[in-house]
Amino acid sequence: MQAAYPVIDHVYDVVVVGAGGAGLRATLGATASGLKTACISKVFPTRSHTVAAQGGIGAALGNMGPDDWRWHMYDTVKGSDWLGDQDAIEYMCREAIPAVIELEHFGVPFSRTELGQIYQRPFGGHMTEYGDGAPANRACAAADRTGHAIIHTLYQQCLRNNAEFFIEYFSLDLIMDEEGACRGVMAWNLEDGTIHRFRAHMVILATGGYGRAYFSCTSAHTCTGDGNAMVLRAGLPLQDMEFIQFHPTGIYGAGCLITEGARGEGGYVTNSEGERFMERYAPHAKDLASRDVVSRSMTIEIREGRGCGPQKDHILLHLEHLDPKVLHLRLPGISETAKIFAGVDVTREPIPILPTVHYNMGGIPTNYHGEVMRPTANDPDAVVPGLMAVGEAACVSVHGANRLGTNSLLDLVVFGRAAAHRTVEVVQPGSAHPPLSSHAGEEAVARLDSVRYAAGGRKTGELRTTMQRVMQENCAVFRTADVLEEGVQKIEALARSFGDIAVSDRSMIWNSDLVEALELQNLMEQSVVTLHSARNRTESRGAHAREDFAERDDELWMKHTLAWLDEDGQVTLGYRPVHLFTLSNEVQVFPPKARTY
Ligand code: FUM
Repeated sequence: MQAAYPVIDHVYDVVVVGAGGAGLRATLGATASGLKTACISKVFPTRSHTVAAQGGIGAALGNMGPDDWRWHMYDTVKGSDWLGDQDAIEYMCREAIPAVIELEHFGVPFSRTELGQIYQRPFGGHMTEYGDGAPANRACAAADRTGHAIIHTLYQQCLRNNAEFFIEYFSLDLIMDEEGACRGVMAWNLEDGTIHRFRAHMVILATGGYGRAYFSCTSAHTCTGDGNAMVLRAGLPLQDMEFIQFHPTGIYGAGCLITEGARGEGGYVTNSEGERFMERYAPHAKDLASRDVVSRSMTIEIREGRGCGPQKDHILLHLEHLDPKVLHLRLPGISETAKIFAGVDVTREPIPILPTVHYNMGGIPTNYHGEVMRPTANDPDAVVPGLMAVGEAACVSVHGANRLGTNSLLDLVVFGRAAAHRTVEVVQPGSAHPPLSSHAGEEAVARLDSVRYAAGGRKTGELRTTMQRVMQENCAVFRTADVLEEGVQKIEALARSFGDIAVSDRSMIWNSDLVEALELQNLMEQSVVTLHSARNRTESRGAHAREDFAERDDELWMKHTLAWLDEDGQVTLGYRPVHLFTLSNEVQVFPPKARTY
């Protein structure tokens, strides 16, 4: 090591890494139950990416039409293209109702119906009557700023319950012991440059997705999947990384999100011939088909020469037929975003749109309590003591191969809450910590040191752009063996060239050069396993659309992919069975069938 790094020690019952919706909900549950809880975040909590969530949180409240949590469960299983674990999906859809009512009681300022109930709008893939009925009004919305409303409320509740926050601390790596249990986490305080060792009986990773591996995404710049990478470096696998969601309505060029709630309020998409083409691809649900279906349909229209604009390279989203009062009341945020990023007045003209990376279905494998799983030959669901993951970082798996809109905010609060419940069951407040080696955490500091003093020839920005282009071109909406093989070769070469990175700022205080290099390393590791997992899966399912294997193959592929990455950058793949069982007798397993909308 080129420098000495004094370490400041902390001891907690629970340490949550990440302060988005899932992290805050877990923090709140743990601290309110009397566990000494710390929440570490690289950004101020209310700047976490949950703040950008727009259209709503799914729950079968039935405020604005008939609904049932079993219909929600069916839609989610179907949306997942039968890769979701049905026990976890049952848990999420049933618990959605108390979890959202609880949010209301915490103070989330939901929009209201005339009767004063929570306002609910339709969303893609959410139907009534097990898919046979009309679209369900299921997305509980606070205008089109639902994430903003939720995250501010949860942060206030955490403060009210005396949670301790370590803000602008960048987490480096997990502390694992010889038995494979997690014992804490190492972090770097960006403000004063100090290094911190947090010991905890339970570490809960709530570090979000890694959308920034792509060139065009709706994700914040902070979405670098730091927890996923920490898990890989701890020798644990990630699950189903090949499933990347493209949101159909990113603003053309800028990539900013235009909520699916826009179509829920009556918006629709057209091609260059002015045709409402979704009627051809999804005759029943049309513009409210699930995201993978709409994104693929848009891509086909563009490829077949029916794209809009001089380059024939985008699609149009129409809202101009809607009552301006509805736009003002229900969609004020995207009306502003369209003006700023597309120069469009939504009351008069359509918005140019293109599918844009939005969500990672894959992540850290967990059960529905949030406990991280490390499958063994004897037990595919074996749990890692002391480690949980929640939110987009986790793969529970409730989204399987394709997530339905509104099920992300739901996943955050339901599983953030579930993780807190489980932690309360397994951690005794204030109990003694087993001894920890005085060397614990040294490897994390050594990694930071080697990147800090890296004196190679390639700038972080250059490597990052190249990685994002590879992911955008070689792991896109449609995939083939050749394109994926080329992607694997390119991303592996690029990952090796991380050893030639140049970091010019050697300081420890607010060193954004170093933060970006560490984030790039995290993104790169996830990109490598993503491309390997995608190349390996020779079928089409949900968001993984192989042109050379156009059909879903349940016999061979109804299983979760697991991917390990070793220190030399070698990937090992394995599998876990999909859970085809339910938790109760109130609902039966939904057997696989053809997926049409
Ligand atoms: O379209 C949206 O408002 C996004 C929602 C989601 O991803 O759940």
